Amino acid sequence: MNGSLLKALELFEGARRVLVLTGAGMSAESGVPTFRDAQTGLWARYDPRELATPEAYRRNPSRVFGWYASRLMAVRRVSPHVGYDALARLGEMYPGALTVVTQNVDGLHTRAGTRDVIELHGSLEAFRCSGCRDPYPAAGVVQLVEGGGEIAPQPPECSKCGNFIRPGVVWFGEMLPEGVMERAWQAAREADVALVIGTSSMVYPAAELPAIVVGRGGRVIEINPEATPLSPSADLYWQAAAGEALPGLVEALQRRARSRKDGT
Ligand code: OAD
Ligand code: ZN
Repeated sequence: MNGSLLKALELFEGARRVLVLTGAGMSAESGVPTFRDAQTGLWARYDPRELATPEAYRRNPSRVFGWYASRLMAVRRVSPHVGYDALARLGEMYPGALTVVTQNVDGLHTRAGTRDVIELHGSLEAFRCSGCRDPYPAAGVVQLVEGGGEIAPQPPECSKCGNFIRPGVVWFGEMLPEGVMERAWQAAREADVALVIGTSSMVYPAAELPAIVVGRGGRVIEINPEATPLSPSADLYWQAAAGEALPGLVEALQRRARSRKDGT
């Protein structure tokens, strides 16, 4: 058994509550680009100030709306990889005691069957009115984009107040959705183990969560092929891709739980 796996098993020993924190790297093996990769990252190819701020949307609603609509179409075409399935099984091992806090807007945790998911940065499926915040069905957006071909569509208007519909994601300079911070922080305060996967740990407040866990005596396991600002302080920095590390980890945890139940 590899050293990181053994160490991870040791850190899970006796854990009653688990926090999983994920970032864009969790979806890389499903074919969703990350943000900060030097070659393939979205922020290497696009300027976030032109696409991911409220000002950008006010300046050019069609461009911003079109970009998020095309990202929605792209994530609908991909599937959660084996690492996602492993996390869903881990959730079943900790009924009511495992929370996934994700910075991702692609919905893949839920599609893989994880029950308790907190989406810190909103969701590509959750369009809403930029005025009255009334939700707008993603199906309507997809229809609009499919009908419009190559032309960036003008956002639909709200049937209640007439304002433009906007993506239901958090942009730079915006607050996190109501209640979401509180729920995520609560889960962090209660966790004995934090599993931090595929995030550069550079965007706050999400990057603060591991420190909350540590502050209450919990342990931190980081899974990432590249070291991050979190790596030096993690109890275990496991240098691996999510899809490589997670299936083996969860299988080993399940084997251990089974053998204890059988008294072997
Ligand atoms: P980043 O793009 O900043 O970081 C992705 C991380 O995933 C990097 O540390 C990679 O090394 C790692 N990674 C790549 N492939 C991996 C794999 N197969 N398995 C595991 N890890 C892998 O993405 P985030 O940290 O999620 O916010 O970025 C945080 C926020 O910044 C995003 O939610 C987004 C962005 O601006 C908003 O849009 C508000
Ligand atoms: Zn409205």
